[in-house]
Amino acid sequence: MPAKKKKTSKAKATAKKKATATKSKENNIENSDVEDDELFKELLEDEDDEDEKSEEGTEQKESSDEESKDGMHTIQYNIRDLPGIGATIAKKLIDVGYSTVNSIAITPARILIEEAGLGDKTAAKIIQAAREALNIGFKTADTVWERRKNLARINTSSTDLDNLLGGGGIETGGITEFYGEYRTGKTQLMHQLCVNVQLSKEEGGISGKALYIDSEGTFRPERLIQMSEAKGLDYREVLKNVIYARAYSSDHQIMLIKDAMKIIVEKNIKLIIVDSLISHFRAEFIGRGTLATRQQLLNLHLHDLLRLAEMYPELAVVITNQVQSKPDTFFGDPTRATGGNIMAHGATVRIYLRKGKGEQRVAKMIDAPNLPEGEAIFALTEGGIVDVDH
Ligand SMILES: Nc1ncnc2c1ncn2[C@@H]1O[C@H](COP(=O)(O)OP(=O)(O)O)[C@@H](O)[C@H]1O
Ligand SMILES: [Mg+2]
Repeated sequence: MPAKKKKTSKAKATAKKKATATKSKENNIENSDVEDDELFKELLEDEDDEDEKSEEGTEQKESSDEESKDGMHTIQYNIRDLPGIGATIAKKLIDVGYSTVNSIAITPARILIEEAGLGDKTAAKIIQAAREALNIGFKTADTVWERRKNLARINTSSTDLDNLLGGGGIETGGITEFYGEYRTGKTQLMHQLCVNVQLSKEEGGISGKALYIDSEGTFRPERLIQMSEAKGLDYREVLKNVIYARAYSSDHQIMLIKDAMKIIVEKNIKLIIVDSLISHFRAEFIGRGTLATRQQLLNLHLHDLLRLAEMYPELAVVITNQVQSKPDTFFGDPTRATGGNIMAHGATVRIYLRKGKGEQRVAKMIDAPNLPEGEAIFALTEGGIVDVDH
């Protein structure tokens, strides 16, 4: 890697670090992950040289935006065309990942102010301009339908589970949550999706890359190799298309998702996995007094994820959560994930996993805006998720 690029990457990481320092202080969380952040960034920049080019001008990233498929608009606006956005502001926005009019329109002013360093008035003005350009506001159902028609699906490798999810598997443009006890196959399923997202449409994928945020340290490339081989795929290719980051704290996890936004388009990321979403939050905020802060942070984090899925109709966000059923630590309904209410509202589709006999696992649809309740059975094998004859 050229020295110049390394420097840029470090500078970016330092800037970002500064930005999150205030938050860390508030929560009393020590943030010691500069090294890892840099590693993550370098890894991301390793693959090609697009970063260099995009630094020279703003044209690069803007032109990589595809014609919108979200039904909000048919013309792809350049953010420079918005009134109130000059070269300086455009650069600030693009540098932190807001390269489309759509992304500006659906982001709260507070976030643009914080992340892009804009003034209050400027932020309000350009958000308003972006919304007007896209004609956001009331729209007719056919426009909404237009967006939904363009959503894609990623196979899970279980026909039963694909059907439970509405046919075809995990839907893009939203968040899908899998929760359940330890060893119910959440992590295995996440690995399977990393392989399957890379397949072509005909094969059940969406020809994209995966971004894997691992908060528990349970990501195993070996499993990706076994799953690739079971499908007759070249595992070296498959591994290259999975971008991995270990999240070391809730703060770090939040930051990784904010960073993810900058690379979704250029790296062709079509699946973001957070395995698991809550564990750091749960470990760091213990005791009744901290619960409100935890839920608030978690809520913001989930909204970051939800906004990503809304910005990119071809992106699926999949999260996991562990629930415990030990009688002494557990009370209430086992189908309630540990995030409580926030999770119930945040995730678009929620699936509860439990053990069946042997390697079998049962998935139960808990919450989905447009799907019936039901159950699916699949099995965990060396080659990944498979159907069960029944
Ligand atoms: N190499 C493998 N071959 C077969 N089954 C495996 C393999 N690795 C993991 N599994 C299955 O996956 C289970 C663990 O699932 P996992 O996804 O890690 O659970 P969770 O993330 O829900 O805690 C194991 O109990 C086993 O049934
Ligand atoms: Mg797991």
